[in-house]
Amino acid sequence: MTTSNKTMLMAKVAAFGLVCSLVTFCLYFEPSSNVCGSTSVKVKHHVGVDPNEKPIVLLWYWPLGVKFDFKDCLKYYNIDSCVLTADRSLYNKAQGVIFYHKNIAWNLNDMPQGLRPAFQKWIWFNVESPTNTGRKMGMDNLFNLTLSYRRDAGIIVRNELTIRETENTEDFVLPKKDKLVCWIVSNKDKRTGTLVRENYFEELSKHIDIRLFGRAHTRRQLGYNEYYPTIGSCKFYLAFENSIHRDYITEKVNGPLVAGTVPVVLGPPRANYEQFLPSDAFIHVNDFPNPKALAEFLLHLDKNNTEYMRYFEWRKFYSVTPHLLSINNEFTQPICLACDHISKDQNFHVVHDLFSWYSQKK
Ligand SMILES: *[C@@H]1O[C@H](CO)[C@@H](O)[C@H](O)[C@H]1NC(C)=O
Ligand SMILES: *[C@@H]1O[C@H](CO)[C@@H](O)[C@H](O)[C@H]1NC(C)=O
Repeated sequence: MTTSNKTMLMAKVAAFGLVCSLVTFCLYFEPSSNVCGSTSVKVKHHVGVDPNEKPIVLLWYWPLGVKFDFKDCLKYYNIDSCVLTADRSLYNKAQGVIFYHKNIAWNLNDMPQGLRPAFQKWIWFNVESPTNTGRKMGMDNLFNLTLSYRRDAGIIVRNELTIRETENTEDFVLPKKDKLVCWIVSNKDKRTGTLVRENYFEELSKHIDIRLFGRAHTRRQLGYNEYYPTIGSCKFYLAFENSIHRDYITEKVNGPLVAGTVPVVLGPPRANYEQFLPSDAFIHVNDFPNPKALAEFLLHLDKNNTEYMRYFEWRKFYSVTPHLLSINNEFTQPICLACDHISKDQNFHVVHDLFSWYSQKK
């Protein structure tokens, strides 16, 4: 890889992040992922707020009712640039107000009514894929910022590097493998859009042995400490997203990269993955005409270690970091990022067509 190639890839990789990935470990590797979109008009705007004071950012709802300590922003992400609060009596002073999409009622009655302070920005926060996002009426021209995994969101939650360049190439030691293909799956509900991956899996499993883990197939959820070792013990890991959307690339891919396993991805097209990951770090199902051809290729790689090890070459140039397992709340980081964004962003924005942006295919 040439230096300029590396630099380019680094720029791309810089966008690969947590959020989606932020899997709440209790939800089990079904990271709900995210969303957002906005066509925002940016105009310089002088905010009527003392610039020497930290802005107040109000969390209107605790996402899914799950609370966390706002001090975690400083502790885990070194973010201390705003005053985060869940106290609604501070509404009139808040420069940012975060609304978690799932908590917003269908009639929007539970949102602040009346005049909005001129300096205040409403932030639409969603960590579900478009397939799993309910469309509510009245949400166009309501928000100022979107907080999501999308690379074109106002506040991008995947901004934490998970892969970065390493100066000293430590020798990568492949974990001991005693399984060929593995898959952890917690949710088999076909209504939520998992049909594509279930069908692909069923067809693939006719041609190659797949070890299943997780609630959906084994009724047993993997423990907190079993995740990486389990994936590491397999040569290949099925990193199949629950629904297929642009930029919707989650912890399902990051996990095997951390564990030292080759992810076999099913999700958006290869080109979208390559915006976040080295092209030789994964196998894409679309590289094959059908599941049978993929199975044959995996069996072939199983027999030829030289060819198999080529999928770890990228480690000479990048290292991959695990997500913060210590944080058991997938909402913490996005909220901290919103806090940081509000402290720096002086622009005026309006999100016009929220759902048409969010459901855009390209
Ligand atoms: C494994 O693959 C390499 C590279 O394609 C090839 O040179 C070698 O002959 C193969 N080994 C076997 C045992 O097929
Ligand atoms: C935020 O969006 C609302 C609704 O479109 C708009 O009226 C308001 O001026 C915007 N405020 C800022 C600070 O961008």
